[in-house]
Amino acid sequence: IFIMLDGTVITCSAPVNIAVIKYWGKRDDELILPVNSSLSVTLHQDQLKTTTTIACSRDFQEDRIWINGREEDINQSRLQSCLREMRRLARKRSGDGDPAHGVAGLSHKVHICSVNNFPTAAGLASSASGYACLVYTLSRLFGVEGELSAVARQGSGSACRSMYGGFVQWKIGERADGKDSLAEQVQPETHWPELRVLVLVVNAQRKHIGSTSGMQTSVKTSSLLKHRAECLVSGQMDKMMRAINTKDFSAFGELTMQDSNQFHATCLDTYPPIFYLSDVSRQIINLVHCYNHHYREIKVAYTFDAGPNAVIFTLQEHLPEFVQVVRYFFPPESNEEQFLKGLSVDSVPVSESLKAAIGMEPVANGISYIISTKVKTSTFIIHHAFTNDLL
Ligand code: DP6
Repeated sequence: IFIMLDGTVITCSAPVNIAVIKYWGKRDDELILPVNSSLSVTLHQDQLKTTTTIACSRDFQEDRIWINGREEDINQSRLQSCLREMRRLARKRSGDGDPAHGVAGLSHKVHICSVNNFPTAAGLASSASGYACLVYTLSRLFGVEGELSAVARQGSGSACRSMYGGFVQWKIGERADGKDSLAEQVQPETHWPELRVLVLVVNAQRKHIGSTSGMQTSVKTSSLLKHRAECLVSGQMDKMMRAINTKDFSAFGELTMQDSNQFHATCLDTYPPIFYLSDVSRQIINLVHCYNHHYREIKVAYTFDAGPNAVIFTLQEHLPEFVQVVRYFFPPESNEEQFLKGLSVDSVPVSESLKAAIGMEPVANGISYIISTKVKTSTFIIHHAFTNDLL
């Protein structure tokens, strides 16, 4: 809680995104420039978001940051990159001669307070929504407008895609200074309203290798990564964009699963190998393939990032049955009512023939809970802005 006698306080929130064509590997670690383009779906903020409050005041002695209630080191280089870039853009704007663009708080220090509405322990990536929110809130504080994905990218690569809603691509770019390595909306969130998302939070999270160091080792040692970046991704991107533009779920789902598998194959090709998938992750993969095979149609697709949790894409009409299937094969031990969080899902029976077709032994407590959500409906939410005269 900030109690300000004079100063400015702004609170904004930003969404999480999940890549369907993965970013894995940098060609420039400092500027965070990728070895391949990527494409993601921005998720709804009601279920997954970061909320950031930034205050600035002449009374503050230094910049400080608290993440989920704990003070963190403001001198981390990525935080410093974002702060430096945003202050530079604000100064540029205030120096353009227009008195309306004078930024009162620019010489003041900031206090930043950032929280996620999802448990960090769940192992869901928070750097994308975190850095997107930091950059956006700073932009409101300093009155900076325009393309900001290049700044968010310097916080965390995947953060640049959280600057837009709907379906978003991060273009690899060609320039050494990274000015053309930007995020761009492919389709707005309204384009495919039937698309639904389930996050299956897998139990027994172990500490794993973070994406930053993981991809560094992959770039150094994996020839599959090189082949993927040079020969495969651009074709996969084209097909994925076509699938999204035409709302072809079957193509979208297949490409999503194949790209996730290719990314995890790259992790296995890394030396020493990196394992993000757990036994439960592999059981989920198997369940999805058996489910689709039973219907002779791709109704459901999975994707996994740098951890064992699954993100499932499906269409509204298939959602109730698939949720029941997950409940049946991964029965929760105690938290029956708490098992499904987020958007409600109708309860439907699962046929014996479907259970038999999946043919898996139920795995008690394999999944802690499910978050039911959808594609995001708006980009950023400004919660409140309070300004006193700083002069
Ligand atoms: C597997 O964006 O977390 O989620 O740029 O080093 O901060 P840094 O990495 P980060 O990597 C995300 C990797 C991924 C795939 C993706 O989101 O595209």
